[in-house]
Amino acid sequence: MIVLGIETSCDETAAAVVGDSALTPRILSDLLRSQLDEHAPYGGVVPEIAARAHLDHLEPLVRCALAAANIAPTQLDGVAAAAGPGLIGGLIVGTMMAKGIAWAAGTPFIAVNHLEAHALSVRLSTPINFPYLVLLVSGGHCQLLVCLGVGRFRRLGTTLDDAAGEAFDKTAKLIDLDYPGGPAIERAASGGDARRFALPRPLLGRPGCDFSFSGLKTAVRRIAIEIAPLDRQDQSDLAAAVEAAICDALCDRTANAIAWFLRNCPQGRSLVAAGGVAANARLRRQLADLAGSAGLDFVAPPRALCTDNAAMVAWAGIERLRLGLVDDLSAPLRPRWPLDLAASSRRDAGVRP
Ligand code: KG4
Ligand code: ZN
Repeated sequence: MIVLGIETSCDETAAAVVGDSALTPRILSDLLRSQLDEHAPYGGVVPEIAARAHLDHLEPLVRCALAAANIAPTQLDGVAAAAGPGLIGGLIVGTMMAKGIAWAAGTPFIAVNHLEAHALSVRLSTPINFPYLVLLVSGGHCQLLVCLGVGRFRRLGTTLDDAAGEAFDKTAKLIDLDYPGGPAIERAASGGDARRFALPRPLLGRPGCDFSFSGLKTAVRRIAIEIAPLDRQDQSDLAAAVEAAICDALCDRTANAIAWFLRNCPQGRSLVAAGGVAANARLRRQLADLAGSAGLDFVAPPRALCTDNAAMVAWAGIERLRLGLVDDLSAPLRPRWPLDLAASSRRDAGVRP
């Protein structure tokens, strides 16, 4: 099976071709054009600018992805696009392009949930079986989910305020580091002393699997004002303290989810991390230790497949296609699209603020 994937739900325009011969996934091409420069002057993603940039860049990117994979549209078994959750302008551009190619090539269209693409991306790099526990941490989402199968999720926890990536991005801004904040904090933290500043670990030790990061942001703002102007070492020490606090908070909530998972899914073997924040090396180390002490394997995609990309969308397309889960050309966009419809609706049911 060979599927073209298109990702335009936020600020990355991406196109990829993924195949699976003998059930082994193979990325035939994987292209991405970031919009960082367009949004940098505004300090965050501007939806209208994002939509226009997708419109300008998607078509040439798709042409290049097909050419790099040496695949003609008529050789595709399906065309998958992120149809939500995300910013509506970008979703329109991506799904319209995907539907057009699918129609012209006479091949199925597959509407992919961007969160499901993150959650399944691990199976593109490592052959693991359902069910598994997923910590899905990105700029817009922060959830603990049991992945029971394709399209089958149970949400154990979500954030009550900010997503983990948002916490990185907002605290980075407070200490004058670049956007996106996660990689900037990780770089700065490598020369810092995490013990110099005491930061809160919200909800630590409390039951449940929900997250909260707004108290951490307030604490960082207070310290940054107190010690202003910040020199390089101050920035590094604060970055190290922020990274440690976010990782500790994520791991504490994940420990509760692991306890639930072991009780309720005894056949499950793996803890998975996905989404942009899962690229963080400290988080990966701490999660690996946590999983190991509970007798689970820890699995995460390579760092480049953690942040938004189209290979994960193409792969989710293949997973759905294998089960005959295709969509028709009238399939709607879903700017909000929770993975677990039975879970109570909370702030991060789908949209990046
Ligand atoms: O999955 P993603 O690319 O986009 C969304 O779906 O939101 O995640 C982007 C988020 C940003 O908030 C970014 O700061 C964070 O992932 N991130 C990281 C790292 N790389 C990206 N956070 C911590 N450490 C990293 N190395
Ligand atoms: Zn994402």
